[in-house]
Amino acid sequence: MPDTPAVQQRIQALTERLHHLNHQYYQLDISEVSDQEFDQLLAELQQLETEHPDLAQPNSPTRRVGGTITKQFPTAVHRYPMLSLGNTYSEDDLREFDERVQRGLEGAPYSYVCELKFDGVAMSLSYEHGELVQGVTRGDGNRGDVVTANIRTIKSLPLALRPGPDQPQDFEVRGEVFMPLPVFAELNAEREQNGEALLANPRNAASGTLKLQNSSQVAARKLRFYAYSLLTPGRHFTSHSAALEALSRYGLPVSDTWRRAGSLAEVLDFVHYWAKKRFELPVATDGIVIKVDDLRQQDQLGFTAKSPRWAIAYKYPAEAARTRLNEVVYNVGRTGAVTPVAMLTPVPLAGTVVKRATLHNANQIGLLDLRLGDMVYVEKGGEIIPKITGVDLSARAVEAVPIEYPTECPACGTPLVRPEGEAHFRCPNERACPPQLKARLEHYVSRRALNIDGLGAETVGRFFDLGLVTTPADIYDLPARRPELVTLERLGQKSIDNLLAGIEASKQVPFPRVLFGLGIRYVGETVAQKLAAHYRSIDALVAASAEKMAAVPEVGGVIAVAAAHWFQQPENSDLIERLRQAGVQLAVTGEAPLPASDRLAGLTFVISGVFEQHSREELQQLITSNGGKITGSISKKLSYLVAGDNMGPAKREKALGFKVPIISETELMALLPNPEDAPATDLLAPEAPTEPAGGTEAGQQGSLF
Ligand code: IVH
Repeated sequence: MPDTPAVQQRIQALTERLHHLNHQYYQLDISEVSDQEFDQLLAELQQLETEHPDLAQPNSPTRRVGGTITKQFPTAVHRYPMLSLGNTYSEDDLREFDERVQRGLEGAPYSYVCELKFDGVAMSLSYEHGELVQGVTRGDGNRGDVVTANIRTIKSLPLALRPGPDQPQDFEVRGEVFMPLPVFAELNAEREQNGEALLANPRNAASGTLKLQNSSQVAARKLRFYAYSLLTPGRHFTSHSAALEALSRYGLPVSDTWRRAGSLAEVLDFVHYWAKKRFELPVATDGIVIKVDDLRQQDQLGFTAKSPRWAIAYKYPAEAARTRLNEVVYNVGRTGAVTPVAMLTPVPLAGTVVKRATLHNANQIGLLDLRLGDMVYVEKGGEIIPKITGVDLSARAVEAVPIEYPTECPACGTPLVRPEGEAHFRCPNERACPPQLKARLEHYVSRRALNIDGLGAETVGRFFDLGLVTTPADIYDLPARRPELVTLERLGQKSIDNLLAGIEASKQVPFPRVLFGLGIRYVGETVAQKLAAHYRSIDALVAASAEKMAAVPEVGGVIAVAAAHWFQQPENSDLIERLRQAGVQLAVTGEAPLPASDRLAGLTFVISGVFEQHSREELQQLITSNGGKITGSISKKLSYLVAGDNMGPAKREKALGFKVPIISETELMALLPNPEDAPATDLLAPEAPTEPAGGTEAGQQGSLF
């Protein structure tokens, strides 16, 4: 065949690309291309292999379900392999699917069940005698991670089923674990406030959450589950719809969005109905799943190597819109980070009207080469945060104005700074920049911090605008200012009573939450807990040097420097004194110090890219507090390259060249001790880690000392 070498080359190129994309997606949770692009590549490969079966390779990406398992959890083999679904993107494809089903069933009547395709993490649950015994992720389809402890934190999931006469003794439930959209939005808002990297979409958030080692952290993330199939050895039900109804009867959460469809026309009605309506659901969805209802007919149709012939997924096209960029405004956050926000001509997109989109940072504006007045394309990342993905250059006016990033704080006029290695410009005027002060007050009263009843973000913001409060300590002067409060509009006697009672009650809030509430940069809830547990009082923290603080597990250099800097500011000493006089808890009682380890002693790491579960700083401090070293460049002596999203290809190639293992965030976590397993001897923080054997390049250490 004359074209064989070219075909062979193309097959090789497609195979390598798909293997790479699979690794990125399943191991590193990175989506380099859209599902649609992935499927197109896979379809092209499939086609070439069909036309040239002699060239097909035994471990071609077309022959596997995709995904590999991580080392972090014990693994289990699936009793029934977890297959994936064929994807389609057009109604014509659905018509072809229907014709294939019709042919396969040789003219017998059939009907479908249509379900929404939930965009989360596939999960297999085993119930024995009505009790939940195991939860396993899909992994590579044959073997997945056992995440039972984490699954048990899902409140809507019954640990024991409601008994029923038709309930099989042992069975498996398949379904999707997802993070509800409001929970995802809240989590990202919190991460933004804490200056942490944002999670790309609810699916990544759910998969990252399931891989957390500490199930109490999982519980806080409020995951949910929808069941979509029930598996038993042999056939227990006659139809899929009967199985879905049974699952609901047993008490398992089944989304009530599924419908029977007697014909393709009814399937298409379902597809059209949910095209827009799906955005009203609390769960991200990316399509529809169509399944032949009768289970005997399912058996008759059977499977291909990777997916059933009796089911298919219809994927909705990614929702994008084109609109005008009118203005860029600059928000100043609690820590002074300046975030550019695009103000757009309002445009309907994926169920809401989009007026604003985040531009993340100055780099983003440069990368997109944005000009004011440009027509831009907006997409919803994970269907929730709108972002600008491109510019329609053909529509650019000659006079379009390039965007000039401000050099001064838009709120207080202080010259902005951009610390090396950071993407954000910052306003350094932490003492007096109004949006920073206001955001710190909002943070102080927030639910996870002092949680002051009757004094929400809005009220405290209003008090700030009126000049009633500037710092958290001023809140405790409010009771004495009751006469002023009563003159305020929309604030009745009852609200004031409630507010003052809330302020009084906040004096009992434990020290770790107060420390978190102070809003010190990088001191999120976990770090606040660790610092509080280790130092036990604010006075001990004030007296501690950055070097000492950095040795506390999970603290590390960057955080320690920020915290020490904060405690050294005279206005903060003043704040602490006033809070002390007000009676706020500034010391802990009872708890023991927390463990560090030397598990990573002798190992060097380069961290590159953007991560889902931790900020880079958090990863750095996790490594250093467990004895590892951070270095800036890749050499053959490097132990690991920790790769996140958007890591440059040069780094990867260099690491591959030196045969340095490239690991994901999750794999890094697996190297660390599980905090709950720490032996008693680990309870004392070690001295600063010693220089690792082999050494690292001088001057490249991430350590700040
Ligand atoms: S049925 C043989 N039903 O979509 C496969 N899957 O590639 C049976 N998914 O990751 C799957 N919603 O977790 C089915 N209503 C639904 C679904 C659904 C989401 C996910 C599933 C898997 C992927 C299928």
